[in-house]
Amino acid sequence: MNKPVRVDPAPIPFIDVAAQRRRLGRAVDDAIARVLGHCQFILGPEVREAEAALAAFCGARHAITCASGTDALVLPLMAKGIGPGDAVICPTFTFTATAEVVALVGATPVFADVEETSFNLDPDSLSRAVAAARKAGLTPKAVIPVDLFGQPADFDRITAAAAAENLFVLDDAAQAFGATYKNHRLGTLGHATATSFFPAKPLGVYGDGGAVFTDDDELARTMRSIRMHGEGVDKYDCVRIGLNGRMDTMQAAVLLEKLKIFPEEIVARARVARRYSKALAGIVTVPRLAEGSTSVWAQYTIGVGDGRRDALKAALAAEGIPTAIYYAKPVHRQDAYRGFPVVEGGTQVSDRLAGEVISLPMHAYLDEPTQDRIVGAVRRALA
Ligand SMILES: Cc1ncc(COP(=O)(O)O)c(C=O)c1O
Repeated sequence: MNKPVRVDPAPIPFIDVAAQRRRLGRAVDDAIARVLGHCQFILGPEVREAEAALAAFCGARHAITCASGTDALVLPLMAKGIGPGDAVICPTFTFTATAEVVALVGATPVFADVEETSFNLDPDSLSRAVAAARKAGLTPKAVIPVDLFGQPADFDRITAAAAAENLFVLDDAAQAFGATYKNHRLGTLGHATATSFFPAKPLGVYGDGGAVFTDDDELARTMRSIRMHGEGVDKYDCVRIGLNGRMDTMQAAVLLEKLKIFPEEIVARARVARRYSKALAGIVTVPRLAEGSTSVWAQYTIGVGDGRRDALKAALAAEGIPTAIYYAKPVHRQDAYRGFPVVEGGTQVSDRLAGEVISLPMHAYLDEPTQDRIVGAVRRALA
């Protein structure tokens, strides 16, 4: 008798950029062809159009596109003159860029802990981190709340704590552009808001890109100047130290097409997240949304305790299902960041999350049979 042949199901993409590309059809090709036609590759008309469309989308007075999400964080810090001797409070459970930019401008990141359910900056830890900064002889100047995995931070409490300490609030919305907090889209909740258009982000382009948002006219003017080498009225007569931080016209053209379908994609992502949570509640720790918040679900991240995470990852990989661990090491435990101050009382929540989180495939085009295959594999692995 012939042995049954085990057919491995096709591997699933973690984020299906190609499915979105198929949906967009010729729109993106045509948009790129228009740029090839007019040849204004730097700060061309699509850049101005994209900035107007982004500002209208989130309700901010100013949207300034730039070369990456990292530059979108650097621009406001440079514009505010934050530098040596200054402290900027950051959550330690985040992507390193949040803290990297602080060190890049010569200031000191001071690490705070996050909240268990939202994965976002704990406002009480923020206040304690301000005290730790002072104790280290630094002047607390700013805080960078991160809207991790797509969900807004607790802005009411963070803004109140920041106001009490006179801190500039720079929202790191790299993973969450499009999400809302109490009916406001991210982009207006900090003094400035940075986002990333890295291809894997909920609103991604076909390369690097980012934008910074603000309602402050003076800050916007200064950031535009810094983005362009610190130009004054004349670009060959610079008034400050700046960067080459521009997003190119080709990416702006792509962004304009993607922004048109973004609202529908946000709805689709929420549907995928709801289905996951319904199927997995009680088996793993499913993510929770704070009341009054919506998420764009950059990641669908579950918690798996008791040391079972690695086995789950391996079991899913064996079935062709990719997962990702964001983040296995809080930033202050990474070699490059070990020397910076950490909130007194520790970062127990970040440390525990780092050992338990795992993100499942998530994108707007994840169909129900594929999602059922993922859910089935998770259930089997943890049975
Ligand atoms: C939280 C966070 N901040 C900043 C960034 C930096 O964005 P970019 O990769 O576009 O520089 C990212 C994205 O990678 C991020 O996830």
